[in-house]
Parts: sequence; C-alpha cells; structure tokens
Amino acid sequence: MSTQAEVKRLTAPDIRARKGGTPIVALTSYHAHTARIVDQHCDVILVGDSLGMVMHGLETTVPVTLDMMILQGLAVMRGSRHALVVVDLPFGSYEASREQAFASCARVMKETGCGAVKLEGGCRMAETIAFLVERGVPVMGHVGLTPQAINTIGSFRAQGREEKDWGPIEEDARAVAEAGAFAVVIEAVAEPLAARISGQLPIPTIGIGASAACDGQILVLEDMLGLSPRVPKFVRRYGQLGPSIEAAVEAYAADVRARAFPGPDNVYGMKGK
Ligand code: KIV
Repeated sequence: MSTQAEVKRLTAPDIRARKGGTPIVALTSYHAHTARIVDQHCDVILVGDSLGMVMHGLETTVPVTLDMMILQGLAVMRGSRHALVVVDLPFGSYEASREQAFASCARVMKETGCGAVKLEGGCRMAETIAFLVERGVPVMGHVGLTPQAINTIGSFRAQGREEKDWGPIEEDARAVAEAGAFAVVIEAVAEPLAARISGQLPIPTIGIGASAACDGQILVLEDMLGLSPRVPKFVRRYGQLGPSIEAAVEAYAADVRARAFPGPDNVYGMKGK
C-alpha cells in the first residue's frame, strides 16, 4: 500500500468550509522540528515571511526572498503530516504582475509541496488573486496591517481605530473574498471592525491582533513561546523558552568548564570491555 494514502492533510477547501464553525487554529513554523509539534494541534501552519525577523534578525520582512521561503517551506512540509501548510509570498515576488505572481506560486508549490500561498494586500491585489485561483493556486489573503508595506505606512500601527478609517479596510477584505481567496488574515485591526468584517465575509477570517470574533487565530510561534525579545500587545506568551534556553546553555557551559560534561553516559567505551 502506498504510504501517501495514510497522510490526510487538511486542504484549502477544508479550511474554507470552517466559516462560522470551530475556530481555526494556526501558528507559524519555519523548521521541521517545530512543525512536527505544531502539526499535532493546529489546522494551518504558516511559513510566514516573519522568518526574516525570527530566523535572520532582520528589522522588517522586506529583504526576505523567494528562495528563503522555499527552503523553510520544504522543511515544514517534511516535519508535518496533517495541517494545511501555507507559504508566504515575500515582498517583490508577486506585486509587479499577475504573471510574476503565478510564476512565484508555481515555484513555491512545486518545490515545497505546500497546499496554499498567502499574499498581502486587498483591492490592489484582487485581480491577481482571481488570476491565481483560476489557475489552481489556493490563496489566503492578508489585510489590515500589512508589514511588507512598512516603507509606505511608516510604522507597525494598529489599523481602523477610528470609524472614519474603516471603509478601505472593509473594502480590502471584501475584495479578497470576492476574488476567490479561501481565507483572509486580518492583522492588528480594532476589535469592532474585525468583528464587523468577520460577520460580513463568506470566508473565514484568521485574526492576529484582531479579536476573538474572527473565525480563527494565528500567532508567530516564537512570540507565543517567549523566545522573541519584543512582542506586540496582541501576543499572549504561552511559554518562557527564552529563559529556559538560557539556563540550559549556562549549565552546559559550566559543565564543560568543570569537565563534568561529557560524563560516563556520554562516551563510547571499547568493544568487549
Ligand atoms: O509572516 C507572518 O508570520 C505572518 C503572520 C503574522 C500572519 O504573516
């Protein structure tokens, strides 16, 4: 029997069908080991371009390349079996034209085997989303705060905190849904606006800093594990890995200096003795 038949991954249509149902659980992952853990509890694993900050210490996601996304996407696919793996299209790999976007998606999907891509932007990307979906690319949208636009928006500020600013954000979310996206991430948007958009859209909304009214939630794994030095207000820390890694490294260094590591259990004896 083919081993492939045993793996039943969630698909973009499965996630689309969860609108208004049990909340969708999503986290980022960039490595095989973390993907293996996240996969046991999540519906969606996002290989986010936040890997630029988390893995490479970049200030923004702007310098992230398609090759970086593909390498980590492949690692996450190898480490997971159940969740839908969504890979972010990085800045500069899809905005120039619908054809450029399709070529980038084809590379990502062929080279990683992932089940969907995510791209940022609402009305301005609607035509591209429709083009991709018509050609077999499941697309997750991303509206509200769009970090790839940092150089035009100026700062990572929450959006829609005054009612007069709601119109364009609502239009963006609607445009993404009408273009055929199977779900949309809403980032850093005032709670009443996120609730309103979630109530209006026919596709699931996945919130990050956008309230429990969304159809699902996503966080950057390292932020919620307590590994990232600075986190936005919307992050809840579910672990304190930073201090516990530091304690482990400190203990290792002390043992090496005292010649207490390696111990008798960690060395190879001679055969037959
Ligand atoms: O890159 C990323 O991690 C993301 C999430 C924050 C939604 O886009």
